[in-house]
Amino acid sequence: MQQPIAAAPDEAAANAAFRHEYWSSRLAFVLAASGSAVGLGNVWKFPYITGEHGGGAFVLVYLACIAVIGVPVMMAEVLIGRRGGESPVGSMRHLAHQERRTQLWQAAGWFGVVGSFLILSFYSVIGGWALAYAWFALSGTFGSATGGGGEGTAANIKAIFDGLLADPGALVGWHTAFMALTIGIVAGGVKGGLERAATLMMPGLFLLLLFLVGYAAVTTGSFGRGLAFMFSPDFSELTWDAVLVALGHAFFSLSLGMGIMAAYGSYLPRHISIGQAAIVISALDTAVALLAGICIFPIVFAFGLEPGAGPGLVFVTLPIAFGEMPGGGVIVGTIFFLFIIFAALTSSISLLEPTVELLQQRRVRRGVAAVAAGVVIWALGIASALSFNAWSDIPVFGKSIFDALDFLTANIMLPLGALLLAVFAGWAMSRRSTAEELELGEGLPYRLWRFMIRYVSPVAILLVFIYNLA
Ligand code: PHE
Repeated sequence: MQQPIAAAPDEAAANAAFRHEYWSSRLAFVLAASGSAVGLGNVWKFPYITGEHGGGAFVLVYLACIAVIGVPVMMAEVLIGRRGGESPVGSMRHLAHQERRTQLWQAAGWFGVVGSFLILSFYSVIGGWALAYAWFALSGTFGSATGGGGEGTAANIKAIFDGLLADPGALVGWHTAFMALTIGIVAGGVKGGLERAATLMMPGLFLLLLFLVGYAAVTTGSFGRGLAFMFSPDFSELTWDAVLVALGHAFFSLSLGMGIMAAYGSYLPRHISIGQAAIVISALDTAVALLAGICIFPIVFAFGLEPGAGPGLVFVTLPIAFGEMPGGGVIVGTIFFLFIIFAALTSSISLLEPTVELLQQRRVRRGVAAVAAGVVIWALGIASALSFNAWSDIPVFGKSIFDALDFLTANIMLPLGALLLAVFAGWAMSRRSTAEELELGEGLPYRLWRFMIRYVSPVAILLVFIYNLA
């Protein structure tokens, strides 16, 4: 690593050379950040981990984590990015210097770069599943699988999923296509790429989920059971492991802990309220996750599937609904998976962006940076893809490579990264700097935030860790 002080003027010059882009409006920022937050985490991961951890009590803990820890940490990350004005690594260096703290704080930025690489490597494999499913929907596969209805339906749909997982060539191919799309959008830049991608897709996904909730309510006959599973908590089922998963997923779903919201915050013009934006983004993200659960669980119960079926849950439930729709659900199914792909892309580009911003600050051209980082991530992702078939018996800490990466990032790295950023914003940064950046004045809202970020978030994260070790 370079000498921070000596490198500063150099760095500043490099910044001045490339930093001319900002979000064009508050709405653009909220949409892009929501685009990062809303993704496979909401539609794919939230339902299956809710299923694995028994439903209601897990959902309640998750909601508490979002409100009490997620929102304050998101505000902290965005304020660090806007005040630092650079990539997460650069911002931490800059702010540590400004606040006269040790340059070791930069490590939090590097930690985020490594974490984003790991997350994107397996995220892209699931993004590939969504691509494959859009193709299946379009080619009428679900309609023929559910053809006669009745007994065989769930088994046929499950066979499609198992067939995809068993095929290394297909998984790697779809993963490659997804990474190529991600790299292409990021190479397009903040306004041309990130912003444009987010503006169209979010509202569409929302409407389609509402439609599917209506479908689940009217046709499955198990709507009440699905709702009860999600919303009537049974705390006797709740374990500390489940609390850790809920906490980790709150960070995963809100894209926190890896400096991503800091990178997006660095493109945020002044005089946009960070607190309001954080609340809107978190609310949207939560709404999409809950809607996804509300359409999936009634189908699970109606067709005698297992709520704890694991990562395939959304892929073995919703296609049943599509297949049973008139015309085999070709149109609705295709549109639905297209929206999932869009939601996944607005998240995957955010995982690549901080690294690209960092490389740009070292004078690498945007397109070159996107391709270079993307290819490394793509190569890493092959290990996850193969862990579903050819490499399924290579265990890492007793899990498959995919599961181990998911556990390491979501349950360990994201909470740790969030802890570092919370401690930095709450303890290393002066009261004056954070108050000025949040523009909340010195009244109750600011004091509440500062209390949460100094005490509640760090203590809660540490407690959950300690209980899991014990
Ligand atoms: N929040 C994204 C989702 O829910 C995933 C993500 C995680 C994106 C971490 C960025 C950082 O799909």
